[in-house]
Amino acid sequence: MGRSKDSPKVDRKRLPRHIGIIMDGNGRWAKLRGFSRARGHRAGSQAVRTVVKACRSIGVQNLTLFAFSAQNWGRPREEVQALMELLAEFIAKEWQEIMDRDIRVINLGELRRVPPDVRTRLKSMIVATRKNRSMTLALALSYGAREEIVRAARNLGRRMRAGKLSPKDLDVNVFSNALYTSDLPDPDLIIRTGGEMRISNFLLWQSAYAELYFSTKLFPDFSRQDLLLAIADYQRRRRRFGLTDEQIRKKDRRGK
Ligand code: FPP
Repeated sequence: MGRSKDSPKVDRKRLPRHIGIIMDGNGRWAKLRGFSRARGHRAGSQAVRTVVKACRSIGVQNLTLFAFSAQNWGRPREEVQALMELLAEFIAKEWQEIMDRDIRVINLGELRRVPPDVRTRLKSMIVATRKNRSMTLALALSYGAREEIVRAARNLGRRMRAGKLSPKDLDVNVFSNALYTSDLPDPDLIIRTGGEMRISNFLLWQSAYAELYFSTKLFPDFSRQDLLLAIADYQRRRRRFGLTDEQIRKKDRRGK
């Protein structure tokens, strides 16, 4: 159950094991107020804190945040710089809280392009939190799903050329293990804020059976309550994974 009386009812025993969030709408939030885009991203980073805390307190085991896409490098230089500064600030300011809350931080994406100071801080945080177990926070940073899939194919190709993997042994599991997300379950729920209804190169492989939830809230306005609404909506969905309703009912009965 949620905290306040009017919170949506969430069944803590049937939480999504992994939630991914496409945090969209910072720019529009800023424009509506006559602020710079950088100020919108700053407000977005406050919402990041809210969402991380909320997931941890509800008991969500894995949260992936789409913080910066491979394509975002093409944005104006000042905006890229502002986003990188916010990330560095987030790591510094949240370090203690992340440790106290036993959160493991990992990165999905091509860190080579990230400025050295941010990269070093993020790597230190990844190392410092590697034994934390209460929740995994995956920061998709300099991340693109197509780029991730191509990278995995290239690595698998190298293993084949070296005679370490036979083409006949390549299956869905082996491929999944070559992705950045190898130690995460597939996302059960993907939330996109900001009203657009698209996936924008986020976890394309992993989202094969994810439930999609689109919120019209701009990301800086996305609250704990909005997150609970998304989870409650997810819990009302009937997931079939390509099977029939009857087969799923039988499986559910066997599971009880
Ligand atoms: C999309 O909004 C959002 C981003 C490109 C970046 C998301 C970054 C943050 C929420 C802040 C920093 C992150 C962390 C983890 C501290 P947009 O600019 O495309 O919005 P618009 O569609 O309204 O223009």
